Amino acid sequence: MSRASIRVKSIPQNPHRVLINKAHELRRRGVKVYDYTAGQPGLPPCQEALEYFIEQVRKDPFKHFRYMPTQGLPELREAISQDLKKYGGIDVPANQILITTGGAEALYLTLATLLDEGDSVLLFDPSYSVYWDLARYLKLKVETCRQTHETGFNPDPECIKEKLGSKAKAVLFASPDNPTSRVISEEVAKTIMEVAHEKKAWVIYDVAYKHLVYEGEHIWLEKLDPALEQTVVVGSFSKDIAIPGGRLGYIYGPSDIMPELVKLKGILGIVAPVPMQWLAYYYLVNGFKEKYLAQVLPVYKSRRDAAYQGFKELIPGAKLHKPTASMYLFPDMTPYISKMGVSDVEFTLKLAESKGVVMLPGSIFGEAGRNHLRITFVTMKEEELVEGFKLLREFLEENKVL
Ligand SMILES: Cc1ncc(COP(=O)(O)O)c(C=O)c1O
Repeated sequence: MSRASIRVKSIPQNPHRVLINKAHELRRRGVKVYDYTAGQPGLPPCQEALEYFIEQVRKDPFKHFRYMPTQGLPELREAISQDLKKYGGIDVPANQILITTGGAEALYLTLATLLDEGDSVLLFDPSYSVYWDLARYLKLKVETCRQTHETGFNPDPECIKEKLGSKAKAVLFASPDNPTSRVISEEVAKTIMEVAHEKKAWVIYDVAYKHLVYEGEHIWLEKLDPALEQTVVVGSFSKDIAIPGGRLGYIYGPSDIMPELVKLKGILGIVAPVPMQWLAYYYLVNGFKEKYLAQVLPVYKSRRDAAYQGFKELIPGAKLHKPTASMYLFPDMTPYISKMGVSDVEFTLKLAESKGVVMLPGSIFGEAGRNHLRITFVTMKEEELVEGFKLLREFLEENKVL
């Protein structure tokens, strides 16, 4: 019996970690592993940016490694403000931006600052698994609206009208999404903002994948709330400039909320990693971000095409939506998994053990994700992506479900 607090013990161990450990164990045993689990960029960060950064650190190490005020490097906040203007045409003053230790911390800070214990938050089901865990940790109640294949994983606007503001004080969602990769429709975006304004509800908008869009465009929800009255936006540098281990994210939102967020951030770790703040700053002001995105987006798109096509051909009974953004395929494998008579968690563990193919079970993203698989398509080359799907097919055949 663990002696840890009840609060921490209330969070169940996420099967995500179990599968990551499984992949490590298989590698140690010399098995060739096809790892589709990581939500991380498939190419290294921009070489030119890194060289520039290292040169600057050499010139003045003290500047790059010292403490700094909690809100973050003023130069970086100003650069983000310019970047938001450039890509989204929106005006966010630098003093309304807080730099955080990754998007993950930004999510925690935002939920803890906007909501009290016992308040309800609206999540779209399925959603990023951390949302559910944070809600549990902060003792929030959760309302849900389902997102299904039939609507391209967009939630039903009627459900949002029914729940946001009346049953839930806030909605939290990502676009482009994890795990479904969908970009929110304009209709849903409009509904959310109309209801939020009318009922004074919070909109927490997670834009970690905003630059990874292959067809269509990212939805700048902020344009429907230009004064940022109801909207708090959570961003990340993990996916677009590809420094997930650098742990850097940011938040911008209403001017009365920002000081409270900064206060909480000050308690939780003082300030986001300072060297990484400089690195992100160099990325933004020297054009490295733009160059890097121009280089990686066609690669990710080609991998997306190969993964989608390969999966559809090899696993014909799965329901599969072609992602226009983000990093993930999210096929519904119900015909196979239910015929095998196992849970999706058991399915992924057996698949890993028997074929070295490691994918995430959809149920960790919510009840509506059950019997789906989350498959990252950006981290492997085209041929390797398809090789792993061939092994998945073999696994289904050996289990006599295909
Ligand atoms: C939807 C979403 N939001 C936020 C994050 C957090 O990213 P980070 O903490 O690395 O910035 C992730 C990471 O995968 C994500 O998928």
